[in-house]
Amino acid sequence: MKLDLASLNFTTLATSPTAYECYAELRATHPVLWSEQMRAWVLTRYSEVEPLLKDPRLIAFRPAPAVMPPAAVQPQLAYLEELHAGRFFRIDPPAHTRLRKLVNEGFTPSRVQKLQPQITGMAHQLIDQVVEQGQMEVAGSFAYPLPVLVIAALLGLPTDLFAQMAAWSKTLLLFFGAQYVQAGYPPAQVNAIYQMHKEMEDYLRTVIEEKRRRPQDDLISALITSDSDAPLSDRELISLCIVLLFAGHETTMNTICNGLWALLRHPDQQQKMAELPALIPAAVEEMLRYDAPVQFSKRTAATDFALGEVAIRAGDVLWLGLGAANRDPTQFPEPDCLRVTRSPNRHLAFGTGIHFCLGAPLARLEGQIAFRVLGERLRGLQLTHEPSLRQHSLFRGVEELQVTWQASK
Ligand code: HEM
Repeated sequence: MKLDLASLNFTTLATSPTAYECYAELRATHPVLWSEQMRAWVLTRYSEVEPLLKDPRLIAFRPAPAVMPPAAVQPQLAYLEELHAGRFFRIDPPAHTRLRKLVNEGFTPSRVQKLQPQITGMAHQLIDQVVEQGQMEVAGSFAYPLPVLVIAALLGLPTDLFAQMAAWSKTLLLFFGAQYVQAGYPPAQVNAIYQMHKEMEDYLRTVIEEKRRRPQDDLISALITSDSDAPLSDRELISLCIVLLFAGHETTMNTICNGLWALLRHPDQQQKMAELPALIPAAVEEMLRYDAPVQFSKRTAATDFALGEVAIRAGDVLWLGLGAANRDPTQFPEPDCLRVTRSPNRHLAFGTGIHFCLGAPLARLEGQIAFRVLGERLRGLQLTHEPSLRQHSLFRGVEELQVTWQASK
């Protein structure tokens, strides 16, 4: 493939059908490329992306103030900035260390493991609703509801969360992908994001007050009752819940859909998994490598430094290509083949370094249960047609995934 760098569109590259061919070309010819469009360096080689994710010369992403937001939306933006000032993706040590430590105390391996029977039950219930039909749209019927139910159970949110999330999901994606920033802060988008945050804040305040009165065995209660010297303020807790609600469902939904899509295009690998369910954990890792739900991690340079021949300046933004590094042949033999037995598999789908995905153990558990239940319940799964990808600059996932199967149980 001969890449036309001038016409390469980085707002859609991550969800382009030819993304992986483009990354291969970039790795070979322009591994550290300046994109004038994104005003950022784009990196695609594993040998650079992996160490840079752990490099203290890079700090959390700060958007370059390229466009001044219109005056009409500045109060809304100020509110968002204040609410999320301390959110995970935007902070560095020591603030990051404090937050991560506090959340880790509640988000323990045992709390995650305890969810296993509940997640399995939820996955079966979702399949019960469609099994007789012999067909489903996977995102809507399975891959979206499952992580929403799970994150609700983890946080201890009431069951009405499901209806609420349906209204919030798309706007959350807009906010966390920062597309409205790239688009120059269109007032309609900023207002929708602001309105959604107000609704989420009201909803979560009520929940937090209730849990303060009657703590339960859930993550919000654990954070409220923490005996830390510097516990989370209500505002920090609300921001954290919003981050977890988003991070906990969007990426896991894409893991299930992207993974199933890949598996159904590789019937030999599907067969292997069916014959040996013990392969499921390795297969889920391979699905994450093969088609990573988060394609780029963004960082800002804290200082000037040289990257090979390239001079990086303090304040420069770097887009570290997780999806591109995961297909780097110097790290993964035959990187464009899905191999459910791949070992070792040091993929970067969850990032690495201090921002390594907090929810990775939960996401892994959910992915493994989802594929076990799909494999047990739906025999002869097939794609109805090739799905299209939902356009986004960071998050890679399908619009919808239609499948059929033979027998029902
Ligand atoms: C398969 C599903 C998931 C994928 C692929 C994924 C991917 C990632 C990646 C790549 C990062 C690092 C971002 C960076 O380096 O800038 C990250 C961070 C994070 N993830 Fe996940 N994630 C998934 C599921 C989850 C779940 C289920 C939760 C919570 C319930 C979660 C919560 C977080 C949080 C809070 C961070 C920020 C951690 C920090 O900055 O210290 N993620 N995730």
